[in-house]
Amino acid sequence: MASADLVSTPFLLDADLVSSYRRDGFAHIPSVLTIDEVDRYREAAARRYDADTGLAYAGNIFRQIIQVWKTDDVLRELTFNADLASIATQLAGVPLRLWHDQLLVKAPHNGAKTEYHQDAPYWPHENARHSLSAWIALTDVTVERGCMTFIPAQQDRHDIRAIDLTGGTDLFSAAPDLVWEPRVTIPLRAGDVTFHNGYTPHTANANDTDEFRWAQVNIYVDRAVTFSGGEHPVTDGLGLARGDRLPDTEFPPLPR
Ligand code: SIN
Ligand code: NI
Repeated sequence: MASADLVSTPFLLDADLVSSYRRDGFAHIPSVLTIDEVDRYREAAARRYDADTGLAYAGNIFRQIIQVWKTDDVLRELTFNADLASIATQLAGVPLRLWHDQLLVKAPHNGAKTEYHQDAPYWPHENARHSLSAWIALTDVTVERGCMTFIPAQQDRHDIRAIDLTGGTDLFSAAPDLVWEPRVTIPLRAGDVTFHNGYTPHTANANDTDEFRWAQVNIYVDRAVTFSGGEHPVTDGLGLARGDRLPDTEFPPLPR
């Protein structure tokens, strides 16, 4: 599904990988970042975590710090990383913009999974041909440290409501048939990235180790998406009306 306005960079994906992403709704790409890059970004993430300011959700599941591209010069480089955005564009097959970024940090022995959910039902989007997240491991993320598990080939399920993340098996109450689907768990080395479709059901384990689970997530959406009028921290207060395109200043087209 190549198109003239897709930007190409040296990080050109194998056609089989693009096909498997489109079939399964997720893809694992090893070693997107070097260890030096990982160390630099993890240190910046730790500084940002200690500062404890900005748009954040803190609970047992994780501390979620969103829009770090606006508050940290180093993490902005990761949010705007051209290889990541190029990979996302090749997988999606449509031009993309940033929806938002976030650090998702699970403290040692946090004792709480991120329960099964899809991401897209939380977002005030209409007419998006595609949305996807790059989940970037800034440390080794084993099963025991809280890596992700995906339910493959369910990304065409757009009928499932937004799930209560603290609600145990809420996804399986909303979509009982999914309990019978196979699941795929993917441990990540530091610098590895998984990409998942906004409608791919997924979960992450609790962090049962003595080290922090450091991850940044870059979320991309179809550049032509329109605003649905719903509430969301990154669109509240922007004065958008239903049907408006997202402004480039707040939701930069990527790669840039
Ligand atoms: C997590 O990292 O705990 C969850 C990530 C996600 O839901 O996308
Ligand atoms: Ni999610």
